[in-house]
Amino acid sequence: MIIEPRMRGFICLTSHPEGCEQNVKNQIEYIKSKGPIAGAKKVLVIGASTGFGLASRISSAFGSDAATIGVFFEKPSAEGKTASPGWYNSAAFEKEAHKAGLYAKSINGDAFSNEVKQQTLDLIKKDLGQVDLVVYSLASPVRQHPVTGVLHRSTLKPIGGVYSNKTVDFHTGNVSEISIQPCEGDDIENTVAVMGGEDWSMWIEALKAENLLADGAMTVAYSYIGPSLTEAVYRKGTIGRAKDHLEATAFTIADSLKEINGQAFVSVNKALVTQASSAIPVIPLYISLLYKIMKEKGIHEGCIEQIQRLYSERLFTGNAIATDDKGRIRIDDWEMREDVQALIAELWPQATTENLAEIGDLEGYRHDFYNLFGFEFDQVDYKADTNEMVNVSSIV
Ligand code: NAI
Repeated sequence: MIIEPRMRGFICLTSHPEGCEQNVKNQIEYIKSKGPIAGAKKVLVIGASTGFGLASRISSAFGSDAATIGVFFEKPSAEGKTASPGWYNSAAFEKEAHKAGLYAKSINGDAFSNEVKQQTLDLIKKDLGQVDLVVYSLASPVRQHPVTGVLHRSTLKPIGGVYSNKTVDFHTGNVSEISIQPCEGDDIENTVAVMGGEDWSMWIEALKAENLLADGAMTVAYSYIGPSLTEAVYRKGTIGRAKDHLEATAFTIADSLKEINGQAFVSVNKALVTQASSAIPVIPLYISLLYKIMKEKGIHEGCIEQIQRLYSERLFTGNAIATDDKGRIRIDDWEMREDVQALIAELWPQATTENLAEIGDLEGYRHDFYNLFGFEFDQVDYKADTNEMVNVSSIV
């Protein structure tokens, strides 16, 4: 079929298999170009199909020759219907990994469930024996609790008062004021249940209980802080409470891993265009300004550049891992640089529909968004008939 982008609100309903493959290949090439990373050799990535998780899987496989198991929740293709991009990404990843002689298997299902956890444990037991790195990179709007059965929904709301600020519709470039009503009822508890650290801890405890974590194993989950501009809706909002919980969980996991000489960290990453972040109000406008500034300063990074730096300059240097005063790894250091944030603060009040294309990198944002779905890659002929039916070869 001829596959074109079909948008509904902030999501794209279609994705292009060849474009997704190109995206994965570009990331692999980047990692190879940076040389080997003395990292983990048997790696489990939870949330492995898009964004930071995919970049982590690629960095481990092609930077450290690691065997990888990827867990994700994606929609396979059906006749006349494209798969979700994470499906095509994973198919392309496995193809390239197998070509390179690397072990790579994937599990498609709800990582929050006991069943998928058990399936993953069984696979590790059977094929790898143990893992020495567990990357936890889930971003989900919902979680069915495996014990209570309750379906929790996360929210992106301020706490204690209405938050009003500017945002941009990155499709039209229209800058407008939005007001977000404060959270109510169980919003905070629900968001913490979905995006906090409980599930991460459940994974690690389940792996540990079956002796599937190698001596010295490490686990890392991803967090975000961002500037004061977005604080009310992000870090001091409902999602921020979940990130506080995730960050606190790193300490309890670290304690629990001491008996196997293991370590647990949260890495604070940079704001980037992913399916998860494009849904958060205000963030697209912030990212548009941020991209422009960071590109001009020559310090712009995407997911793959971020994770390559996280691995080679933080996690696997052979030295003690540097953290901030709250025990977090900071790979958002360039985003949070004073000169970068000073420019954001200066440009933010000026941004309008008329000047955003000039003072911000709206085009870069839009292009990255289309890339997530496999569109706008120069190497792909989008007019050509494309087979939407693609298998992930080692789905378990
Ligand atoms: P993403 O949306 O690109 O990836 C989410 C991954 O989780 C996908 O592999 C998806 O298949 C998987 N997933 C979702 N629900 C699942 C379920 N129930 N079972 C199994 N897999 C499931 O997200 P992104 O942006 O890469 O986020 C990953 C982490 O990085 C999140 O914790 C996010 O808060 C954090 N982060 C994101 C930043 C950003 O700007 N995008 C910045 C800093 C941190």
